[in-house]
Amino acid sequence: MTEILPFPPELLAPGAVGAGYRPAIRLAGLPPGALHRVSFGDLDVLLAHTPLGIAAIDDRCPHMSAPLSIGELDGCVVACPLHSGRFDMATGEAVQMPTTGGLRPDGTYEPVWTQPGREPKEDPPGKKTEARRLTRVRRLRYYPVRVADGVVEVAVPG
Ligand code: FES
Repeated sequence: MTEILPFPPELLAPGAVGAGYRPAIRLAGLPPGALHRVSFGDLDVLLAHTPLGIAAIDDRCPHMSAPLSIGELDGCVVACPLHSGRFDMATGEAVQMPTTGGLRPDGTYEPVWTQPGREPKEDPPGKKTEARRLTRVRRLRYYPVRVADGVVEVAVPG
């Protein structure tokens, strides 16, 4: 039987409570290690087949919304293609903050990434720097998943 990745219940996506299951992809189309985007109207969902089971999250990086479906999956960790943020799908937490820095979920500040042995880069003052500093990299949000008759189904609002 195909496992479904358990996720922290507090990280259920808004609107997913009581939502009906909708077919997303045949199980055969989502082999272990695969990432796959499926869209329901304007909601893009990422399906991932991790070693702990299948998970469904928003296909928007919790930093600046890049599509994680074109990133890399390494075990349960998905890497974002835009600023190298890495997110653990087993916990919903960032295991590597984006290179641009920003706020962690608890509001603590992470500076811009600097190459080891180099002086930290001076960020020129201005709106762009302020936007980077104030961007909160939140935890992942999850949609319930099940497999029925060989089809992966996701509970999404709408
Ligand atoms: S958008 Fe993903 S790390 Fe920045």
